[in-house]
Amino acid sequence: MSRAVIVVAAGSGERLGLGVPKALAPYRQSTVLATALRQLRALADSISVVVVAPPTHLVECAAIAEAEFAGSKHAVVTVSGGESRQESVRRGLAAVPASATAILVHDAARADAPAHLFAEVFGHIERTGRGAIPGLPVVDSIKRVNDNGELSIVDRDKLFVVQTPQGFSASILRQAYMDATAEFTDDAGLVSASGAPVDVIPGAVEAAKITFPSDLVLPEPATVLRAPVTGIGVDIHRFDDVGNAPLRMAGLEWPGEPALVGHSDGDVVLHAICDALLSAAHLGDLGTHFGSARPEFAGADSAVFVRETLRLLTESGYRPTSVAVQLVGERPRVAERRTEVEQFLTELVGVPVAFAATTTDKLGFLNVPDGLAAVATATIVERSAG
Ligand code: CTP
Ligand code: MG
Repeated sequence: MSRAVIVVAAGSGERLGLGVPKALAPYRQSTVLATALRQLRALADSISVVVVAPPTHLVECAAIAEAEFAGSKHAVVTVSGGESRQESVRRGLAAVPASATAILVHDAARADAPAHLFAEVFGHIERTGRGAIPGLPVVDSIKRVNDNGELSIVDRDKLFVVQTPQGFSASILRQAYMDATAEFTDDAGLVSASGAPVDVIPGAVEAAKITFPSDLVLPEPATVLRAPVTGIGVDIHRFDDVGNAPLRMAGLEWPGEPALVGHSDGDVVLHAICDALLSAAHLGDLGTHFGSARPEFAGADSAVFVRETLRLLTESGYRPTSVAVQLVGERPRVAERRTEVEQFLTELVGVPVAFAATTTDKLGFLNVPDGLAAVATATIVERSAG
């Protein structure tokens, strides 16, 4: 699957009334456009990004796009937009590589739409072949008023406030744009009119559109604090029954205990912590980032993975607040070194790490005593939160 995202940013921002296009409006210490693109940069799989800019500000927008994706695995081009949103999407579509199989269209004005929303839209298209648009349930009561001012009830259970990114199979979107004869307010409208199926998937509150000046004012940090997110990680490695290297576990050496077998040093505790952190941020798992196909990690000290995981988390706009990890195995005895382990892990991760261990009553669960397992949970919050 080859993934592309068109970010339409060519509007003039009339209702914002700043005298500059909305894409260049100051927002979160940068601009609306830079903020929107930063979310895309955090995506785990590489994408082709097409930024559609106001023709009057093509150079500025291209510079922002280049800066946001510098050194990333994603490709970006910037093109000029048109008079209407639909015309801007059409021009963006013309710049999407022919190899793309799934295309998302996103309003730069929805600058805080989180990276995971893009991943979810791509996932839906690739699983079902159908279009996907994020939608939130309507929370207010809705009334229809006829020409005589008479009210009637509308069943809000069947209504959604729809957002972007809206995604489609590339062939379906290209065909729908080729066939379109009317103007639509969004791409789902245009694609639905072409007869192709489009599903509503759960949207994100953060994906609200910046339209009026008040939308640029960020809430006080205390109210920005969105619910912390928890992730989980499990890792299992077998004991090396041939070599005589000492065990490395929880970043420490355990003399007299057999080493674990793995592509790296097989440190189940550090691996479970990495997986828990990555899972909380919807960034996949160890295999996604440090797969055994990568020779540079052979025999690696797993502390490297923890540091790299923390960097990925930062890049995605998150920071951990706590980690808990439990070792499952018959040996070694960890009680005497629990404080030492917790100190080491707390220093490594930069937040309190609780360490505990359990045996499995010699039941052979998870095949211990032939190896070790570890289970971890991690809690993360957005970096901007209090
Ligand atoms: N858009 C575009 N080309 C246009 C019009 C709109 O690329 N000719 C983009 C906008 O940049 C925005 C998205 O479509 O990201 C949604 O449009 P809207 O929120 O209406 O933004 P503006 O058109 O810029 O704002 P306004 O209508 O207040 O002028
Ligand atoms: Mg507009």
